[in-house]
Amino acid sequence: MAARPGANSAEAHSCRPILFITGSRNNGSRRGGYQNFAAGKKCEAVLGIIAEGKEVIEEVDDAEVLDAGLVAFGQAAEHYEIARYGTLCAWAKLIGKPQIARLLHQTLEEEKKADALLSQIAERSLNQHALSA
Ligand SMILES: [Fe+2]
Repeated sequence: MAARPGANSAEAHSCRPILFITGSRNNGSRRGGYQNFAAGKKCEAVLGIIAEGKEVIEEVDDAEVLDAGLVAFGQAAEHYEIARYGTLCAWAKLIGKPQIARLLHQTLEEEKKADALLSQIAERSLNQHALSA
């Protein structure tokens, strides 16, 4: 059965990470403030990964190849998240927000574990099954 890792990731992420760690005040910037940045923002990068995954779903007929492809797209989303959370964690430390850095680090580690699990699934069976299909 093909999982759909990261299918809802765009709902949960925003591409404006620095605003997250700097707070929710309006600084009068040309961006018009960021009080509501975390609510309802979608991440275009993750949406792009999801769109690519949907193309694969439409184009691939073989179930085993599809499974391997979906795991690959799930990993693409995880890698993006790892990059973002890693940066956010470093920035939170840099600006003296250790509690936020700690939470971001926890999330970063969760993303790394998800990526490692997907790698195991792919390398232990899915990729070989897709190759043999
Ligand atoms: Fe993730």
